[in-house]
Amino acid sequence: MSEQAPNFPDSTSDRLASDTLLVRNYLASVPVKNITGESEQQQYRRDIAALLKEKKAVLVAHYYTDPELQSLAEETGGLVADSLEMARFGRDCEGDMLVVAGVRFMGETACILSPNKTVLMPDLEATCSLDIACPIEKFSAFCDQHPDRTVVVYANTSAAVKARADWVVTSSIALEIVEHLKARGEKILWAPDKHLGRYIQDKTGADMLLWDSACIVHEEFKAKGLLDMKAIYPNAKVLAHPESPSSVLEIADVVGSTSQLIKAACELPEDTFIVATDQGIFYKMQQLAPEKTFIVAPTAGNDASCRSCASCPWMGMNSLQAMYQSLRDGSNRITVEPALAKKAMIPLQRMLDFAAQHRMQVKGKA
Ligand code: 13P
Ligand code: SF4
Repeated sequence: MSEQAPNFPDSTSDRLASDTLLVRNYLASVPVKNITGESEQQQYRRDIAALLKEKKAVLVAHYYTDPELQSLAEETGGLVADSLEMARFGRDCEGDMLVVAGVRFMGETACILSPNKTVLMPDLEATCSLDIACPIEKFSAFCDQHPDRTVVVYANTSAAVKARADWVVTSSIALEIVEHLKARGEKILWAPDKHLGRYIQDKTGADMLLWDSACIVHEEFKAKGLLDMKAIYPNAKVLAHPESPSSVLEIADVVGSTSQLIKAACELPEDTFIVATDQGIFYKMQQLAPEKTFIVAPTAGNDASCRSCASCPWMGMNSLQAMYQSLRDGSNRITVEPALAKKAMIPLQRMLDFAAQHRMQVKGKA
């Protein structure tokens, strides 16, 4: 392809170093969270459950959040899900308030899709490296340079970036939407995750111009370590999120969104899985397939003191204590400026309509 992606740090290690520095600086600037004992945790759970009821609020949590939050969402009639399902459920559920345990783009999406609900998050600083690496000014300039391309953005972006896009996709539905656009003869401008973009490009053969950024968690998975691990567990299947580097995806038996990986873990006959995504997902995998063994894919070299650090620092900012305080005080309300929300709603709605239609077609075939 003759067109060029924007001029970011040209080596992966430069970018990774700057992303890592960003996270370190951020973590150094936030107060250390209190580590709560078991009874204190139980108290928070009870208090949060009571507040949810009193405020007609629903708790929606991502699979990467702390198991305490995932189980609380389930116990209180909320939902634990991938980012697509979180958006859909948040929009459709009854109630006056949504508590989103996840990262900022998930809260913003809930806000855009449910303008009549109050949306709270345990910590408004919980963001995502992909969102950070795709600032609206640069992104908009990039789009302006390629007016002939359909702009497709990953859900892990700000409301402003979504408002500049033709389509929003999540990893659950990105392949199908790009296939659909390719069949219509459209050329695509894709942002921000280059690994997911490249994976879709390889799978669909679509003409895609890729923004150059990555998830700091998934980018750490190592093909060499994975091959070594496969040698130790020869019967294990490898499950990988498509935000992982292509060298890892090539080894994987199943590549998919968080919900697709959980489904594969349940449905495949194997009893051992090496999983290349955030470790929070193990809670749901183990709950649905208690007899199976799940091993976290390696992110570190042989000499490292820990085998894997597959844990999103921003997802980790969601705590019971922060959730309790936010619900009690009505603090950490997330808002999106109405004119921006109206614009961002268009590509989000397109995705949800496509998902509803696609599900119907799949059902129709069965
Ligand atoms: P899913 O859409 O698969 O839940 O992924 C969200 C995410 O942030 C992955 O890192
Ligand atoms: Fe963003 Fe990666 Fe965290 Fe997902 S795991 S929220 S892509 S930083």
